[in-house]
Amino acid sequence: MAELTVDDLHLAYGDNPILKGVSMTLDRGEVVSLLGPSGSGKTTLLRAVAGLEQPHRGTIRIGDKPVFDGAARTDIPAEGRNLGLVFQSYALWPHKTVFENIAYGLKLRRIGGAEVGERVRHVLEQLSLAPLAERYPHQLSGGQQQRVALGRALVYNPPVILLDEPLSNLDAKLREEARAWLRELIVRMQLSALCVTHDQSEALAMSDRILLLNNGRIEQQGTPEEMYGNPLTLFTADFMGSNNRLAGRVAEIRDGAARLDGEGFALWGLARPSARIGADGTAMIRLERIRLADGPGDNRVEASLTTSMYLGDKWEHLFALGPARLRAYGDRPLAAGAHWLHLPRESLWVF
Ligand SMILES: Nc1ncnc2c1ncn2[C@@H]1O[C@H](COP(=O)(O)OP(=O)(O)OP(=O)(O)O)[C@@H](O)[C@H]1O
Ligand SMILES: [Mg+2]
Repeated sequence: MAELTVDDLHLAYGDNPILKGVSMTLDRGEVVSLLGPSGSGKTTLLRAVAGLEQPHRGTIRIGDKPVFDGAARTDIPAEGRNLGLVFQSYALWPHKTVFENIAYGLKLRRIGGAEVGERVRHVLEQLSLAPLAERYPHQLSGGQQQRVALGRALVYNPPVILLDEPLSNLDAKLREEARAWLRELIVRMQLSALCVTHDQSEALAMSDRILLLNNGRIEQQGTPEEMYGNPLTLFTADFMGSNNRLAGRVAEIRDGAARLDGEGFALWGLARPSARIGADGTAMIRLERIRLADGPGDNRVEASLTTSMYLGDKWEHLFALGPARLRAYGDRPLAAGAHWLHLPRESLWVF
């Protein structure tokens, strides 16, 4: 059953439309990430679900209970929605201990002391925070503070937690550890989570499904593998990875494949819905899919090496092909001059 269902949601700030008909579901035990460029409406959608912003059309249901319905004028306030919220600036109470920070919301709800103690201890245990219960926020690392913020949301046992950039205050290495830890916790505690991020690798690593927002609309949604491996639009392809792009003209479309002709190349790839014969088109291929080849052949181009960068685990080579630049990985340095590159047709998309 869906824990959260959003249908045709519209929201404007003044007369500036922000969400333009967003529909989505979140199933039990699922982690769904909202991904998209800055300003695309991710936080706005999360806040609307939480009851902190008022949409003007559409519906939001939690389980089978409508919490917002524009037509029926239902609008249950935030405190009646029983959702766990974790925002980017986690704003812990500086003069309360870790224990008190987590207990505070329960006390406000007039829950008895014994039960508060039990629930807080359970959450501290789950988050590996038990040894830090008596510390104050300024005595914690950034990652530990983040976990306390999460604890404050989890102590209510909400069916759904909403996370807005929960890891953005952590440095790169901590962030990678934290996302594995967070994913494991969500699965172990059987939570359903809607998580905003603008980091595509974080979304790929953490989620069961990804919704990609583009200017207030869902551009594409699917599993991480679908989003990365089968983008339907140029926007999705571009957003989801590191890419090479070639501009040209779509010369032929046959059996789901399209040929793009450009300066110094004619390449076959998978035709995407937007490709039209005779029209300008764009070919795109992930960096890691281009191969260095030893000579001419099917879907190969000859390009000249511009520069190479050593990345530690591999080399990244930059090539010029007419006006275009192509990047490819290799396991050793290359001599200056011309090289053949293979762009496998099953890894190349033509938009
Ligand atoms: N309170 C507000 N009043 C007016 N406009 C707002 C308000 N909050 C957000 N906006 C606008 O709504 C749009 C979407 O904002 P939102 O915060 O949802 O973006 P986002 O996808 O979360 O971006 P980011 O990745 O930068 O956090 C932006 O153009 C923003 O300027
Ligand atoms: Mg935001």
